[in-house]
Amino acid sequence: MKLKIAKLPGDGIGPEVVEQAVKAVDAVCRRFGHEASYTFAKVGACAIDECGSAYPESTHRVCMESDAVLFGAVGDPRFDNDPTAKVRPEQGLLAMRKQLGLYANLRPVETFPSLVHKSPLKEALVDGAEFLCIRELTGGMYFGEKGRRDGGDTAFDTNLYHRFEVERILKLAYEYAMRRRRHVTVVDKANVLESSRLWRQIAREIAPQYPEVETDYMYVDNAAMQLIRCPKFFDVLVTENTFGDILTDEASCITGSMGLLASASIGEHTGVFEPIHGSYPQAAGKNIANPLATILSAAMMFEYAFGLMEEGKAIREAVAASIDAGIVTEDLADGGKACSTSEVGDWVAARIG
Ligand code: IPM
Ligand code: MN
Repeated sequence: MKLKIAKLPGDGIGPEVVEQAVKAVDAVCRRFGHEASYTFAKVGACAIDECGSAYPESTHRVCMESDAVLFGAVGDPRFDNDPTAKVRPEQGLLAMRKQLGLYANLRPVETFPSLVHKSPLKEALVDGAEFLCIRELTGGMYFGEKGRRDGGDTAFDTNLYHRFEVERILKLAYEYAMRRRRHVTVVDKANVLESSRLWRQIAREIAPQYPEVETDYMYVDNAAMQLIRCPKFFDVLVTENTFGDILTDEASCITGSMGLLASASIGEHTGVFEPIHGSYPQAAGKNIANPLATILSAAMMFEYAFGLMEEGKAIREAVAASIDAGIVTEDLADGGKACSTSEVGDWVAARIG
């Protein structure tokens, strides 16, 4: 199979970790007889520096013409403490999600047996936890009307949701639940927010269409607590954009390191596969960042964009083997020897074959 991949490393540690994922993709292609081609394009701060836009039209064209996007991270401290900046690197990611119609962000949380001791939670709580967070990605406060009034002293962001946006993400959640443990938790703040009441209303309409699936409704504040109190409760957790952003950072630490959580953003056009950690500027260029989340995102790319399940599994097995063998970066090294980003990438690629 020919695989046309758009390579968007972005900023910070993005280029280093994406390079390791490319090694894994190439190794899979050698082993299974596929042919991958990569088209590089800029996004985020590096794109702003070059042409003033965080998601240039030329980058969008590359994405549209590819079968999948392998994405690193965006963000740069130069912009973080400047609330007056007109363009921000993060806008590149948001524009890309919107323009590609990527309304569903899938963030699987899984634990690796040899790492449960790294979790800040008790081993017994964590061991065996495995769930899928589904975050709505192109609506809500991120994209609703926003602005300033009163000469700048009043600010607002609108948490706007249309019925069709809620319906399609909830249906997707139920479809995934049907292939899993058939349990959906709808997370909202329906005791306060009107937008959440719409979510809950629509969920109550859709749930009966999936009688095999058990549905729970949970307020987001409670969900934040249950995630650490009882992570094994969850199978499919579905929620709106902002809540999903916050809860998945929280969920990522259950596994022991944020450097392990992969994601797939899917929807109308080319899917984007990216680690959930950000650009980690303090580590940029030092060859110390954990590449496993990006390598696991490449596994998701094989599974979700190409429907190549065996290939995805080959990557997952190699990642699990690297963790078992202690071939890990400093975030997971546990006082033992820490490997560099590229050493981990080379080991995983060699393991794939
Ligand atoms: C994420 C990130 C982004 C988001 C930022 C970088 C805009 O935190 O993918 O979770 O908030 O969606
Ligand atoms: Mn986030």
